[in-house]
Amino acid sequence: MSAQFPVARPRRLRRTPALRAMMAGTRLHPADLILPLFVKEGITEPHPVGSMPGVSQHSRDSLRKAAHEAAEAGVGGLILFGVPAVKDARGSAGDDPDGILQVALRDVTAEVGDALVVMADTCLDEFTDHGHCGILTGSGEVDNDATLERYAAIAVAQARAGAHMVAPSGMMDGQVAAIRKALDAEGFAGVPILAYSAKYASAFYGPFRDAAECAPQFGDRAGHQQDPAGPLEEALREVRLDLAEGADAVMVKPALAYLDVIRRFRDEVDVPVAAYQVSGEYAMIEAAAANGWVDRDRMIMESLVSIKRAGADLILTYWATEVARRL
Ligand code: PBG
Repeated sequence: MSAQFPVARPRRLRRTPALRAMMAGTRLHPADLILPLFVKEGITEPHPVGSMPGVSQHSRDSLRKAAHEAAEAGVGGLILFGVPAVKDARGSAGDDPDGILQVALRDVTAEVGDALVVMADTCLDEFTDHGHCGILTGSGEVDNDATLERYAAIAVAQARAGAHMVAPSGMMDGQVAAIRKALDAEGFAGVPILAYSAKYASAFYGPFRDAAECAPQFGDRAGHQQDPAGPLEEALREVRLDLAEGADAVMVKPALAYLDVIRRFRDEVDVPVAAYQVSGEYAMIEAAAANGWVDRDRMIMESLVSIKRAGADLILTYWATEVARRL
């Protein structure tokens, strides 16, 4: 064997940090990150979420502070989730102008103005006493079409309270069209819709249900969220329908277990693709790190780079502010 063998040496381009930095094909930028924030009605101090170390249910004051810090770090956007003091079967707090999410949208837009994009999660589960994402029929099933009217009213209330973008997450058929129609009719034609297009019935949402206090009181969401084992074509059908209904950007959720779906969306659609690194993805890394089993900071960056590499243009992550500061 000649002394020059092998000729092709991929390692040459990895030899130094400068070479690796120059060759990196995937770069994270703070503006690509969206921070989910929870605000709870009637509290004066933030309540830490036990299953999400480092994440709290915010008071109005601490929410403003968190929004300010995110803006200062250069984070691209926030998505707000409200936890009302009183819930009922139809989720009345969801479209009440004085409901906690509307109050929070006004607070946060006053605090950060247009420095970042202030988004609202448009759903009912945080607001219903039964914890389901919609209005129930007499037999306890989620009534798709009755729910659409509620989503439309909620999206309009959110836009009126200053939301720059709404993000319907309930996986009702026709939700994007219903919301688009209502927003346009009420003078909000300029408010974009980020559609949760492929949203799986996932165990990775566990900790979120503590944070948003929205665990279903009975049953589950498998009747409307996608089956993790469902065909990839099902996700493509969902995203095509959302685009036909007027979605401006689309989302895959969760992220790390669905990198193939993110890649397919990026290859197939011509709008921005977002991915939601959900509560369980966050909790797994924090819990392993708390045990000293993994290198927390490297694992966070590696997970985000993987989601970006798979094709996500935007990433919703509970680490947004921390990571933006680090970048
Ligand atoms: C529904 C909603 C959920 C999440 C975001 N929006 C919960 C669900 O569908 O059960 C989960 C987010 C996370 O786990 O971080 N409004």
